Amino acid sequence: MSETDKPTIAVTRRFSKDVEQRLESSFHVKQFADDRQLEGPAIAALCDGADGLLCCSTERIDKALIENLPPSVKIVASYSVGFDHIDIAAARQHGLCVTNTPDVLTDATAEIAVLLILAASRRARESQHLIESGKWGRWSPTLLLGMQLSAARIGFVGMGRIARRTASMLRPFGAKMQYWNRRAYDADMTGGDVEFVADLNDLFATSDIISIHVPGGADTNGLVNAERLALMPKGGVIVNTARGSVVDDDALIDALKSGHLGGAGLDVFNGEPAFDQRYHDLPNVFMLPHIGSATTTARNGMGFRATDNLEAFLAGREPPDRVV
Ligand code: DGY
Repeated sequence: MSETDKPTIAVTRRFSKDVEQRLESSFHVKQFADDRQLEGPAIAALCDGADGLLCCSTERIDKALIENLPPSVKIVASYSVGFDHIDIAAARQHGLCVTNTPDVLTDATAEIAVLLILAASRRARESQHLIESGKWGRWSPTLLLGMQLSAARIGFVGMGRIARRTASMLRPFGAKMQYWNRRAYDADMTGGDVEFVADLNDLFATSDIISIHVPGGADTNGLVNAERLALMPKGGVIVNTARGSVVDDDALIDALKSGHLGGAGLDVFNGEPAFDQRYHDLPNVFMLPHIGSATTTARNGMGFRATDNLEAFLAGREPPDRVV
């Protein structure tokens, strides 16, 4: 494509060299120079003269912004699998195409789910603290006893790609596995040994470890609440690699403080990066700064997939990952 034929895209963040080179070979790139989160008016200004917008899950593409985007912008390509940061109804109403980046981050995020399941079940933060504080006195038969996966039942809330990959990675650990989802899958989709539980409350009541894999948004806001946590067996563990909004923080913190739950492993938080600081004071919470997809392989894959979507749409073809 000649330089003059290239469409123009607005890009809100800095990406890897490989992704930026690929973007520059296909588009005139109007890129925000600093790598920090942009608010609505700054995004609208960046989009001046652009045909499309490439954003991340850190940018809120709400109704007000969609209404303020220059009419030349016809596509918002998100460098994320989740799209709860985009007002999909407003995008539909304005005839704006929205795309995401599924598949390419499935392995990376499933690895972090496994890491959190192990870290929270085997009390990694408390153990690390004992080492770092120099307070490790001696080995003891009852020191830092955790939950063994081969003796546990893991319940997946949601059974999309990342949950299914997490289940397949966990299979060799020998845990019993079950899931709740809006619909049941054929057994071959879930590996045959992950049982469907039709009632979400039953999943909580019968799972020692709950791993959350539903999308964020109005439908799942506060799904993990005090009533459901109370149903879990004593010592239960909650792991969240999906979205902070799915968990009611007050309820989770109360359940951890009271000793009803044994631990939590969290990669995502309500209001991140300014998350509820009470989690800091709970030694049984193992926390990560939203790094589910943070591998070079996954992040390049996300960048290339977003570029594929922009290229297809701006060349008049159907983008592979159209959400709306
Ligand atoms: C996603 O892709 O949704 C991840 O949470 C990163 O934004």
